[in-house]
Amino acid sequence: MRITHYTVCLIASAAFSMASTVAQAETVKVGVIATFSGPNAIWGKQFREAIDVYVAQHGDQAGGHKIEFIYKDVGGPNADASKAAAQELLVREGVKYLAGFDFTPNAVAVAPLTKQAKVPAIIFNAATSSINKQSDFFLRTSFTLTQLAQPAAEWAAKNGAKKVVTAVSDYNPGIDAETAFSATFEQNGGDVLKKIRMPLQTTDFAPFVQRIKNSGADTVFTFLPVGPATFAFTKAYNENGLKGAGISFLGGGETDETTLDALGDQAIGLVTAYHYSDAHNSELNKSFVAKLQELHPGSRANMASVGAYDGVELIYRMVEAAGSDGAKAVEAAKGMEWESPRGPVKMDPVSRTVVQNVYLRRVEKGADGKLFNQEFATVPNVPDLGFNP
Ligand code: PHB
Repeated sequence: MRITHYTVCLIASAAFSMASTVAQAETVKVGVIATFSGPNAIWGKQFREAIDVYVAQHGDQAGGHKIEFIYKDVGGPNADASKAAAQELLVREGVKYLAGFDFTPNAVAVAPLTKQAKVPAIIFNAATSSINKQSDFFLRTSFTLTQLAQPAAEWAAKNGAKKVVTAVSDYNPGIDAETAFSATFEQNGGDVLKKIRMPLQTTDFAPFVQRIKNSGADTVFTFLPVGPATFAFTKAYNENGLKGAGISFLGGGETDETTLDALGDQAIGLVTAYHYSDAHNSELNKSFVAKLQELHPGSRANMASVGAYDGVELIYRMVEAAGSDGAKAVEAAKGMEWESPRGPVKMDPVSRTVVQNVYLRRVEKGADGKLFNQEFATVPNVPDLGFNP
């Protein structure tokens, strides 16, 4: 057969279209930076198990691309380790998305790298408002302390609190919580008697709890990072007679599902303002919790789980919209809305933190003997007002 110009063209164009199909269907790697060892290892465990749930329910493909997760342990709040992990993931592994980030310093440390590489970084937890100002590539599926502390202060002012002491861990999210709570509480007619800041690494809260007891306050508002710190502080509140002395407790993550059982019945009645309870009454939450228990018996869903689950939902949608083109994917994410196990969420196009409901909850004991956070009031669609562009 004489090969005409026409057949050559056909062969060439068939080869081209095959090549471009192959190039389109790539494996998109997602680097997950979190704490998998040491006293805060619960963070990495909760993130990873929630990712397992998402993949079991939705498959390992988005927009025709295979999604592969690569995990890196940074051992706790450690900016240097987080930066090194991100560098390795970007350069050696070729990841196109970064994710995870339990502690604020770990997120802040990767801001310059996300801009240089134009790689989106999906924050599953780190909750200081200003993080998202440091790179346009940050998107947050958790919450911010400002987002929780403002509704908490409004609720306290409306429900009889007059004199409050704030007690927070002395680093960025604690300062955000203190600032937002105090300003809102004072605007609503309350007094903030003392602002106590506690070292991030301390586990001995007796001296701080004593100061709160002697302060003349009717309420303590608190923030500590979920884990050993929230557990030890709440235990100290329970065991030092503050409730008996007429000082109500108002917190956030202190009654987290991963420490609640160990706090025991003394936790019953504690009030918190938060965005997720594993007892949230929706079909989606029930299937999320059930799948987690099926895949990882004994685990309980908490805010880290839901931050990761929604983070992966967002990543899948971004990959569907833009593959591994980071800048285009960030644009596509702005304004996205979906139903989360916590309730409805929307990615705020300006702050790039989800707009979500904040729930007032009280610890109760279920018929099965388990403690849980019962939502009793909803403040709908709260944006992160701590982000000033
Ligand atoms: C944070 O470092 O931003 C952080 C850590 C733990 C929390 C909340 C915020 O529970």
